[in-house]
Amino acid sequence: MSAGAPPIPRVELTHAPTPLLKLERLSQELGVELWVKRDDLTGLLESGNKVRKLEFLVGEAFAQSADTLITCGTLQSNCCRTVAAVAARLGLRAIVALKGAPPAEYDGNLLLDRLLGAEVRFCSDAEWDTIDEILEELAVRVRRRGGTPYVIPESGATVAGALGYVACGEELAQQIRHGAPDFDAIVITAFSGGSQAGLLMAKQLYGLRAEVVSVPIAWEAARVRDYVTGVIDQARRRYGLPVEAPREVRLLDGYQGAGRAGVERRELETVVRVARTEGLVLDPVYTAKAFGGLLDRLRREPGALGPRVCFIHTGGVFSIFPFRAALGRVLGGDGLVES
Ligand SMILES: Cc1ncc(COP(=O)(O)O)c(C=O)c1O
Repeated sequence: MSAGAPPIPRVELTHAPTPLLKLERLSQELGVELWVKRDDLTGLLESGNKVRKLEFLVGEAFAQSADTLITCGTLQSNCCRTVAAVAARLGLRAIVALKGAPPAEYDGNLLLDRLLGAEVRFCSDAEWDTIDEILEELAVRVRRRGGTPYVIPESGATVAGALGYVACGEELAQQIRHGAPDFDAIVITAFSGGSQAGLLMAKQLYGLRAEVVSVPIAWEAARVRDYVTGVIDQARRRYGLPVEAPREVRLLDGYQGAGRAGVERRELETVVRVARTEGLVLDPVYTAKAFGGLLDRLRREPGALGPRVCFIHTGGVFSIFPFRAALGRVLGGDGLVES
């Protein structure tokens, strides 16, 4: 990754390369060649984009001799579940601080967190406002027990985490060299924007021609853009990567809907429609918002992103299940889809 520079610590975890599939019926409907890169199949419980980030985060943790991974997120956090899965796989401890009260029953990602042996610290809204302090308290507790903690911020949003998507971009560049379409645009879901930052670095390092476009699903556009450019600057300074923040960070804005962890009927309808037309299951919170935004954009202006577009499916399927009641209402029939 960094020619001439010392190797960056990394632990191989990802089942890669992930497949590229053409979405035939949606392509026909939109008049655009639409593909999906199945990063929902990165392995370790279909853990999506977080497995790629954790290759570098855990690399850094091991370099610091850590034995306990601490992270935080919402009750249905994909990142927390992936940290729990990776910790169990590697024989580490995991502690996850989750925003919300303990629910009546475990479901979706939370069920998996517990199944995988992660220790869960539920945080009230007031505690969540001081989440950095809570993470530090958890780290102090680990040290007192004689352990060595490594703290991963929400969504693995650090410069080391972003390197996971430099690796994804390198993989995509190789797939293109071996016959995959030379996409005009690569579209990815953005929470922090770390994954987009990684792809933008890969574009410079591995000669990807495609525009790298993200769809923010929670933060406002300016915050995502600042994060993306900041991480690229940090990667240059910290790892000596020959990369520069681009003048423009392209986003499809306006699809945040109910914001972080919130879901509206529109996203549930996207989940149902895409499952039925392409046999592809999106998650309601992240990828359905982003993919729904992409479809909306292409319906309004089919040429907006060029003739060949690749959406990176970043995973999250387990959060389908806690939305069973709302999905059931959509499936109950309102003429949306024929059954
Ligand atoms: C399924 C899914 N897709 C995309 C993202 C966004 O990742 P990033 O924070 O790198 O923008 C997340 C993380 O929160 C996620 O869980």
